[in-house]
Amino acid sequence: MLLRKNPGWTIAERQATPETLFFGRRAALAAAGLAGTGVALPTRRAGAVDLPTAMRNPRYRPERALTAEREATTYNNYYEFGSHKTISAAAQRLPQRPWTLRVEGLVERPGEFALDDLLRRVPVEERVYRHRCVEAWAMVVPWSGFQLSELMKLAAPLGSAKYVRFETAAVPSAMPGLRQSWYPWPYVEGCTIQEAANELSFMVVGAYGKPLPPQNGGPVRIHFPWKYGFKSGKSLARVVLTDQRPKSFWEQIQPQEYGFWANVNPAVPHPRWSQASERLLGTEERVPTQLFNGYGEFVSGLYEGVQGERLWF
Ligand code: MTE
Repeated sequence: MLLRKNPGWTIAERQATPETLFFGRRAALAAAGLAGTGVALPTRRAGAVDLPTAMRNPRYRPERALTAEREATTYNNYYEFGSHKTISAAAQRLPQRPWTLRVEGLVERPGEFALDDLLRRVPVEERVYRHRCVEAWAMVVPWSGFQLSELMKLAAPLGSAKYVRFETAAVPSAMPGLRQSWYPWPYVEGCTIQEAANELSFMVVGAYGKPLPPQNGGPVRIHFPWKYGFKSGKSLARVVLTDQRPKSFWEQIQPQEYGFWANVNPAVPHPRWSQASERLLGTEERVPTQLFNGYGEFVSGLYEGVQGERLWF
């Protein structure tokens, strides 16, 4: 597979804001020369949700206009709240704090992280990513979050860990969809350890400069921008390092339509519809779909040894 050294949409290293400027509110204040000047950090109210200041990382350029916030936050797939797109009001019932993320399995340092503690230990930044749903609609969202690799560093995977399984929250008191007992709850997704280490794999805690709303997977979701959107599990409760390939929610339901890899490819149709183009959310505009959703230069090398597998659904 042909790999160019510098992806077309990146900018020269010297033009990028230094990494240290991305890292959190204190660093941002320091960078602005405000450290030690008495400018106060906000004090936290009990149960309040704070989003650390996240500077935009210019390395990830969507080459498309941002989707209107109202569209991205009111047209959602979140089956725990219902199998239709208008779940945003119902999703407000999912408590966002306190929130604990468990990391366990084949790791040296298993643990339970209170989300706000975790956010003090990882560099938070903003990335504008394209998101491509397998249903052939797409959006562009400024997400705030941190690289999944930062969480991996904290947990220290053992050499025997081959996969990461993401288990999302199942809260019966808030999620009416869980009563649909024919679905294999909880929603599970997964990736390989190499995919987890890729710089694009992003743990999302914010959108449009605000805490991630529950309907988009608040308080914390995963996002793999080169894969179909169903891989990006919402409202994560558990991250498990394992030597077994996880069988994801949709793969359990429809293995002939949805698989483990689910990389975006315009040339491989879904069994029931074409993937050649996509509708930009909030518009009637259709644009051609891109291989790996346009992120091939970051990720195509991940698949060089596995071409025999069903990489595209
Ligand atoms: N995560 C959970 N827990 N439940 C879901 O139903 N839907 C997936 C994914 N993550 C889903 C989920 C699908 S099909 C898509 S396209 C994206 O979330 C949609 O994310 P969005 O609502 O933020 O656009």
